[in-house]
Amino acid sequence: MIKSIDIQQELDVYAIRQQFPILSREVKDNPLVYLDNAATSQKPQVVIDALVNYYSGYNANIHRGIHTLAEEATAAFEATRDTVKQFINASSREEIIFTRGTTESINLVANTWGRQNIKAGDEIIISSMEHHSNIVPWQMLCEEKSATIKVIPINDKGELLMDEYFRLLNPKVKLVSVMHVSNALGVINPVEDIINAAHKIGAVVFIDGAQSTVHLDIDVQKMNADFFAFSGHKLYGPTGAGVLYGKRYLLEAMPPFQGGGEMIKEVSFGKTTYADLPYKFEAGTPNIADIIVLKTAIDFVNKIGKQKIRDHEHALLKYATAELEKIPGLKIIGNSKDKVSVISFVIDKIHAQDIGILLDNRGIAVRTGHHCAQPLMQCFNIAGTTRASFAMYNTMEEVDALVTGLHKVIKMLV
Ligand SMILES: Cc1ncc(COP(=O)(O)O)c(C=O)c1O
Repeated sequence: MIKSIDIQQELDVYAIRQQFPILSREVKDNPLVYLDNAATSQKPQVVIDALVNYYSGYNANIHRGIHTLAEEATAAFEATRDTVKQFINASSREEIIFTRGTTESINLVANTWGRQNIKAGDEIIISSMEHHSNIVPWQMLCEEKSATIKVIPINDKGELLMDEYFRLLNPKVKLVSVMHVSNALGVINPVEDIINAAHKIGAVVFIDGAQSTVHLDIDVQKMNADFFAFSGHKLYGPTGAGVLYGKRYLLEAMPPFQGGGEMIKEVSFGKTTYADLPYKFEAGTPNIADIIVLKTAIDFVNKIGKQKIRDHEHALLKYATAELEKIPGLKIIGNSKDKVSVISFVIDKIHAQDIGILLDNRGIAVRTGHHCAQPLMQCFNIAGTTRASFAMYNTMEEVDALVTGLHKVIKMLV
């Protein structure tokens, strides 16, 4: 089915939709309109099939067995590493560490590189728009080490104030950790400028790619990120499969994250030596099935083509922005011109949660609340927003359904 899509110039959204079985279900007697893709995306049939194939065909623990099933599972697991390496253009497969997701990737670096390198009086720069998972691990580290967090402020459009960032840079700054794309606003941050400036003062940069990897082309070498993380479940893949990329020289100097099987060279009661990269950071039985199937998800995206997906999502964003702006009392939060397909908004006199519940009654799934970015909500002086986020399978008709739904909500509550 994907072949027929390949020969077309534009993405055939209706053919794509047929590959996502969940999209044909109903919610409360209405067709499902799934607009919560920034939280997690739906899964195509190939991804679901690949999971079933693994468990019904070659389920085995990896790396340790010499039997056929173990060899097949190991080969498939390691094939994902090669696919991820290409997908984000890492320079070697040893720089790809499998984790449960972005959150675990950040915690891994905070607990290893961070504990080894952050000292009393040091500073870590994050931004006002970070997801809690790119705030709390660094706060915990700073508490332990008597270091300080510094925060890049934003303007009314939700864009980073880069001059303020440059002012924050000084020799005490050892790490800058920022998101590539905001989950709450959709704003794309100028990560290359952020990285260049940080490197000039010798700081290491972590880029949280949880929201960017599904929408943008990622080239970690061109970007020159020291660390980069993403979650497979936001990329049409299964939950529990994530990636940490790190430059080899940094990963090699870091102590292990967790101790256990697989991450060792030799163990005796006197001393343990650790495995080489990437296994030093992959203790215990990993999430084999989901990591194997992450490759299927990436292949699926690659086959359709990120540019085509981006063009389609951009058209949805443009149309939705124009239509939502016509709704009286509705204000979009985050108006940068550099955005991916996320629209956050508030409506006068209506609580976001009420909007979410009433839209759900019409089968429309949106996210409401602080989107794990409470400090960002404080910057805008709001408790939360309603967020619609689009994926490759969303249609203009679904945008219309959202707009009609919002008119009904306003009529009912205002
Ligand atoms: C920007 C950003 N960072 C980090 C995360 C955490 O990702 P996960 O829950 O998959 O670990 C998310 C999830 O929504 C996110 O949007």
